[in-house]
Amino acid sequence: MTTTIPPVSKICCIGAGYVGGPTMAMIAHKCPHIDVKVVDINADRIAQWNSDRLPIYEPGLDEIVHGSRGKNLTFTTEIDQAIGEADMVFISVNTPTKTFGVGAGRAANLEFVEKCARRIAEVSKGHKIVVEKSTLPVRTAEAVKRILSNTANGATFDVLSNPEFLAEGTAVDDLLQPDRVLIGGERPESIGALVDVYANWVPRDRLLTTNLWSSELSKLTANAFLAQRVSSINAISALCEATGADVDEVAAAIGTDSRIGPKFLKASVGFGGSCFQKDILNLVYLCQYFGLPEVADYWEQVVRMNDYQKERFVTRMVRTMFNTVSDKKIGIWGFAFKKDTNDTRESAAIYVCRDLLLEKARVCIYDPQVSEHQILNDLEYVFTDGDNKISEAKRELIDKHVTFASSAQEASSDAHAIAVLTEWDEFADVDFTAVHDTMKKPAFIFDGRNRLKDLDLKAKGFDYHGIGF
Ligand code: UDX
Ligand code: UDX
Repeated sequence: MTTTIPPVSKICCIGAGYVGGPTMAMIAHKCPHIDVKVVDINADRIAQWNSDRLPIYEPGLDEIVHGSRGKNLTFTTEIDQAIGEADMVFISVNTPTKTFGVGAGRAANLEFVEKCARRIAEVSKGHKIVVEKSTLPVRTAEAVKRILSNTANGATFDVLSNPEFLAEGTAVDDLLQPDRVLIGGERPESIGALVDVYANWVPRDRLLTTNLWSSELSKLTANAFLAQRVSSINAISALCEATGADVDEVAAAIGTDSRIGPKFLKASVGFGGSCFQKDILNLVYLCQYFGLPEVADYWEQVVRMNDYQKERFVTRMVRTMFNTVSDKKIGIWGFAFKKDTNDTRESAAIYVCRDLLLEKARVCIYDPQVSEHQILNDLEYVFTDGDNKISEAKRELIDKHVTFASSAQEASSDAHAIAVLTEWDEFADVDFTAVHDTMKKPAFIFDGRNRLKDLDLKAKGFDYHGIGF
């Protein structure tokens, strides 16, 4: 194809989620000459993006959205129109792990991506650049290209892969100053068009261009490596507890080796989030598909170690609390998968609460940003069986054993134990003398984030247990 590509002036992004929303807000903020439309099939979500209370909590995001909304940033459900007008279309829809059929539990469900590609093919005219933003299995671009090649209107397309590396809670900073932006593609002209968009604020030497497949695989590999570091330090945390070593001291000691580096070595109750587990399982599926079972097993172990870490946390709680938590109130501090987000996808808290409920504990949950509705949804989902049903016994556990509090102190009032599951900063500022007064004795704290470790809670009368010491 020899089409020359004019500079991008209209962008459409399909998917107004945790990735599409902030990324497009940043492009609109930094590129006032580009008209950005974010579309979604979910009308409620679009209404929230157009309201004063955005659908996602992300430090610094409100200012950026309010600065551009109504000027060059629009949130709308007019999907076809926005696609039709745009010269560049981002696909940023969710790609959950398949729950049925071939590859269930491992492969990515590409239904939404495929539907987007078909929609783009149907309504486009002229030439468009289609950008994969969703994390996808390697060679998905090939499928997208084939779908796009069957168009009735003679439209032509270039497909690029532009994986997102932002982390929730720090999305705005990550977008402002990315370590790198990765753009995979085939034609230099189309790669150049997207490079020029980012070059409005990202230094050129941070704009890396690769072929399509390298770009797709780099995203999965980056997340697999990051998750592997967490599982590695979590594995060592179990050994620290058995031997009397302190995992934070070990992490600090190894982190000074410049080859290892200090980041992503925080032992925890387990990693969560929409990406790590999903992307590793995706990688595992790819390896199996391409006949590489040893490679698949190697990476799968990272997820197994994470499951073990969550189970180990509950087992330790039960053992320490005289082998039973039945009918005991446990204050749950934090439900989000990390601080500074209202996202609970794959949060360790879901699994810890599930296992505590199965032990018949009464959990009283407080999170500063996550809604009760979301928490109940997550607990119902985790108790749902293969037929999408929830048994009466499990329903009763949720109805009778789950309550909510509007502060950390309230969640721990009259409780036998506190479980810290998200590292929210406000937990360190709680009045622990008051908390201790209202708790049953011994007053146990199980800190899944080592967030309260420096507060000398033992001196305040608590029976304090962290991770890895
Ligand atoms: C998603 C993917 O999960 C991730 O792998 C990828 O890297 C980026 O996109 P996220 O933005 O966090 O991440 O997902 P989510 O918050 O669920 O947003 C996806 C949005 O797409 C939802 O608002 C959903 O309504 C919308 N959607 C989904 C469409 O507009 N059309 C569809 O066909 C399917
Ligand atoms: C991750 C990647 O960092 C990002 O580049 C990619 O685009 C999406 O996936 P995210 O899931 O938003 O981002 O958050 P991240 O900061 O990576 O944390 C993931 C999980 O690991 C959280 O549950 C966090 O608490 C946990 N974690 C992280 C640890 O337990 N210890 C650490 O040292 C770091």
